[in-house]
Amino acid sequence: VDVDPSAYEHGQIDGRPRMYTEMLEQPASVERALRGRLDERFATAHLGGLEMDARELRAVRRVKILGCGSAYYVGQMGASLIEELARIPADAEAASEFRYRSPVIEPDTLYVAVSQSGETIDTLLAVEEVRRKGGRVIGLVNVVGSAIARACDGGIYLHAGPEIAVASTKALTTMFVGFALLALQLGRVRDLSVADGRRLVAGLQKLPAQIEQVLEGEERIAQAGTALAPAESLFFVGRVRGYPVAREGAQKFKEISYRHAEAYQMSELKHGPLALISPEVPTVAVVPDDELTDRNVAALHEIAARGGPLVVVTHAGVDLGELAAERIDVPRNERELDPLLLTVPLQLLAYHAALALGHDVDKPRNLAKSVTVE
Ligand code: G6P
Repeated sequence: VDVDPSAYEHGQIDGRPRMYTEMLEQPASVERALRGRLDERFATAHLGGLEMDARELRAVRRVKILGCGSAYYVGQMGASLIEELARIPADAEAASEFRYRSPVIEPDTLYVAVSQSGETIDTLLAVEEVRRKGGRVIGLVNVVGSAIARACDGGIYLHAGPEIAVASTKALTTMFVGFALLALQLGRVRDLSVADGRRLVAGLQKLPAQIEQVLEGEERIAQAGTALAPAESLFFVGRVRGYPVAREGAQKFKEISYRHAEAYQMSELKHGPLALISPEVPTVAVVPDDELTDRNVAALHEIAARGGPLVVVTHAGVDLGELAAERIDVPRNERELDPLLLTVPLQLLAYHAALALGHDVDKPRNLAKSVTVE
């Protein structure tokens, strides 16, 4: 799928919503986000815009990621990448909350602000709070020269191209790539082996073609999305790497379908939400083929036993028996990079549910593309 962004910047292509063309543009935008940043020889990434040398990168003891909405959820994916590849403790927090709890700012923590627009006031104020207290902030920002980009000490531009639809798709996938590059560079100046570095470089290079493959499976995902549309309430579940994917999937679904979509850790289902599972409440489950597959499948049995319909996003070869009403297989990559490929079908799922309900997916009610007031 080759879409020239300039072709739809001021209108739609073939009457399709912008969200649709932006989803289709993801192979190209991810390719742009990677361009010139991978170093095969040294099995690492080079992010010149960080303005940090190897000594400074090695001195980072903790990473704190700040963003709002989808940027916050992809920040959670980023925190996992950084912990897994660089073995630095990392977490993400809603930028809209951070400033109000008088946060302790540590000099050896690297703060990362994530924002498509670069204008979100909550994220901007969080950056200013960190800097006022002497912390270092880098930005993962799409819009060049935006307020957040200017307020940070350095950063990574996402090169997603203009994103106009309120529901973020291509900016979000390039944010994931930005975090993967950052995690790789942080990892390689520390203890990440050359072999692991090579593995990740090769995995990142495969992503554009694999996203294309997911998009080619649209018909099946459209069926699943249309089938979910009548449900008043849904769960999106996953665990560890899959949990932020479920959160983002639920966010997209509720933003444009106006259905109650709640994300939960699969492991926490038995501590409450199982009481709500019934034939009227479908669950979308994120079940990659990884070290947690068996546990995840056991949880799916718990849902199925209560008559809960299941849509499962997974990898070919994961044995689901007769559990799932719909299964969506995504291509395999390195496990650390799974969240990106698992996220794309959930965008299409939300999109097709919203279309089935007759909603204007580009202009969801009550929402703005960028929130510039507190
Ligand atoms: C708004 C949008 C969300 C978006 C969030 C952060 O709430 O409706 O879709 O994720 O802002 O936007 P940003 O531009 O900072 O990524």
